[in-house]
Amino acid sequence: MFRFRETVKRINPYKPGKPISELKRELDIEGEIIKLASNENPLGPSPRAMRAVRLHVGEINLYPDNACYHLTRALAEHHGVDPEMLVLDRGSTGVIELIAKLLVDPGDEMIYSAQSFLMYPIMAYTYAAEERVIPLTADYKIDLEGILAAISEKTKLIYLPNPNNPTGTYHGKAALEGFIDRVPDHVVLVLDEAYITYAGELAPDFVSGLEKLKAGRRNLFILRTFSKDYALAGLRVGYGIGDPELVAGLHRVRNPFNVTSLGQLAALASLEDTDHIARSVESNRAGMAQLEKGLRGLGFEPVPSATNFILFPAGSDERAAELSGALLKRGVIVRPMTAFGLGDHIRVTVGLEWQNDAFLEHLAAVMGE
Ligand SMILES: Cc1ncc(COP(=O)(O)O)c(C=O)c1O
Repeated sequence: MFRFRETVKRINPYKPGKPISELKRELDIEGEIIKLASNENPLGPSPRAMRAVRLHVGEINLYPDNACYHLTRALAEHHGVDPEMLVLDRGSTGVIELIAKLLVDPGDEMIYSAQSFLMYPIMAYTYAAEERVIPLTADYKIDLEGILAAISEKTKLIYLPNPNNPTGTYHGKAALEGFIDRVPDHVVLVLDEAYITYAGELAPDFVSGLEKLKAGRRNLFILRTFSKDYALAGLRVGYGIGDPELVAGLHRVRNPFNVTSLGQLAALASLEDTDHIARSVESNRAGMAQLEKGLRGLGFEPVPSATNFILFPAGSDERAAELSGALLKRGVIVRPMTAFGLGDHIRVTVGLEWQNDAFLEHLAAVMGE
């Protein structure tokens, strides 16, 4: 009856990791549910962020600061850039949408990897772009040469997550910077650095694209989020860093009051809590080693990861579905990978030590069922 736009009909609605409350309803389960499905920070938020939220919760009758004045300035100082180079939104997902909203006319081309964050194709269909979808290379990496070869006069933007979700793979300094240099000026390269802090710890040759932006690559736009290492996924704060002219365009198309007041305050407090970040990174490093070893011990070959999650082949689509389904019945939520084009794989987020142990024990048990 309703006349939806044609390209919107192609959208596969985003399917998040199953929420704990939903599984509790479905299973009527006694014990603790372990959710290792959405790459959240298992340590919980920074105590400073919690204090800020408690202190200011009585002000939520007021609209938030539309300019995110204090948070923008703090981020500008943190990154050594002008405040005019920053735009905030409701998670980096929000910024992923802003850039498409600003740049893409129907029929313009957009390039991204076939096995990557699910928001990119949703953007292509929402804004009626012609998608150029590039398969991974054999070592689970995003195919940078394939992306370059797909660029045409009509290409408006490239979405490149580094490291990539759901593979956890990354491109190091030489490959990334060489790639950035070869992207022509008429294309905006959106470099999604959601997992940067973990990558900085786990991968010695990992670098941010920020230095290239500062050095004058004006077509580079960098995405960051407070959802992962900063542990604020529930408050939805993310941002982009780019050329002031591009950022001014993004401010035109963003909604007013697009970052909640509690989100702004919690993000500011989290940014200052460097101890919490250090604890998060250390917990992740240990948990990653624990999961890698445990998975190998069970006969799996995990893909080397520079993030806070790990992908492993389960043998076949059926086996991956069986194992993740059986884990779910035991109250362990992992992420099936069908929507990501990797249906024979499972992705598990690095949890706390006891959560990783429990996951490995349950996995061993369901393998024998
Ligand atoms: C590569 C990548 N980019 C962006 C996001 C979005 O995070 P948020 O919207 O919570 O900032 C995610 C979340 O999983 C991600 O994996």
